[in-house]
Amino acid sequence: MNQNSLVSIDDISRDDILDLIERARYFEEHPNHKILDGKVVATLFFEPSTRTRLSFETAVNRLGGRVIGFSDASTTSSSKGETLKDTIKMVSNYVDLIVMRHYLEGAARYATEVTDVPVINAGDGANQHPSQTMLDLYSISKTQGTLENLTITMVGDLKYGRTVHSLLMALRYFNPTFRFVACEELRMPKEYRDFCDANGIRYTEHTDFSPVVINTSDIIYMTRVQRERFADIMEYERVKDLYTLRADMLADAKPSMRVLHPLPRVNEIAQDVDNDPRAYYFDQARNGLYARQAIICRALGIDIYSYDKGE
Ligand code: CP
Repeated sequence: MNQNSLVSIDDISRDDILDLIERARYFEEHPNHKILDGKVVATLFFEPSTRTRLSFETAVNRLGGRVIGFSDASTTSSSKGETLKDTIKMVSNYVDLIVMRHYLEGAARYATEVTDVPVINAGDGANQHPSQTMLDLYSISKTQGTLENLTITMVGDLKYGRTVHSLLMALRYFNPTFRFVACEELRMPKEYRDFCDANGIRYTEHTDFSPVVINTSDIIYMTRVQRERFADIMEYERVKDLYTLRADMLADAKPSMRVLHPLPRVNEIAQDVDNDPRAYYFDQARNGLYARQAIICRALGIDIYSYDKGE
């Protein structure tokens, strides 16, 4: 496995996280740098994406590199039966870095085992989405001025939502208090509740998205109910619209609070929230560009600060 791969947020330390946030801040101020001249990055998306793929590709383009890849695996030889192993080994012949989204949990980890090229996990099933976590942390740090001692309320699909799983794990370094708001069917899985217990992280669980929960939150992290992960579509229909944030629910929320959502949204944030100054999800998506520029450079072993000094 290439040590520069990013498969799980667990692969990186507190210091790595803070360093990536500083570098994201740098790229926000200087997004156009030709430091990837001569580098080729593959974006292999076996599952649909808008933000993750386009922000990774924009990040490479703005840094002067080239992108190859696919956004629809049905147009590739995997539709003829080629294995993931063979696909990864082939692509490794052509590129310096692989960014991959796959519907199977563990697919990114498996990819690192069959190639020496660094791999960035752009989402594997309901498991992890570490680059999303870095942009979430960057967004939280920017809006709250700190990552420490925050009350973070996660709402919606906490079972299948890989972004909340990664974010929960990353925040363990920063003394968070979590509120998990979900119905019984989509409750935060036991392994993540156990993770909180093992790491001394405070959390409470709620089925009611109540004013007291909203008004004492520093961050409200809304999530989409992940229809594509349900085996039983009737169960999806039963739970899909249980939690919707509307503008009137924010009347007494903290002025400094921010509403985050990894997007895409369906019905979980009403359109009228978009006009509230605490709605941050579109800015959050823009932060993905800068966070991913930092992640790509880390994966390729390129230090932007040395480059700037001409070293
Ligand atoms: N947040 C996120 O992963 O969005 P996409 O599915 O559009 O990439």
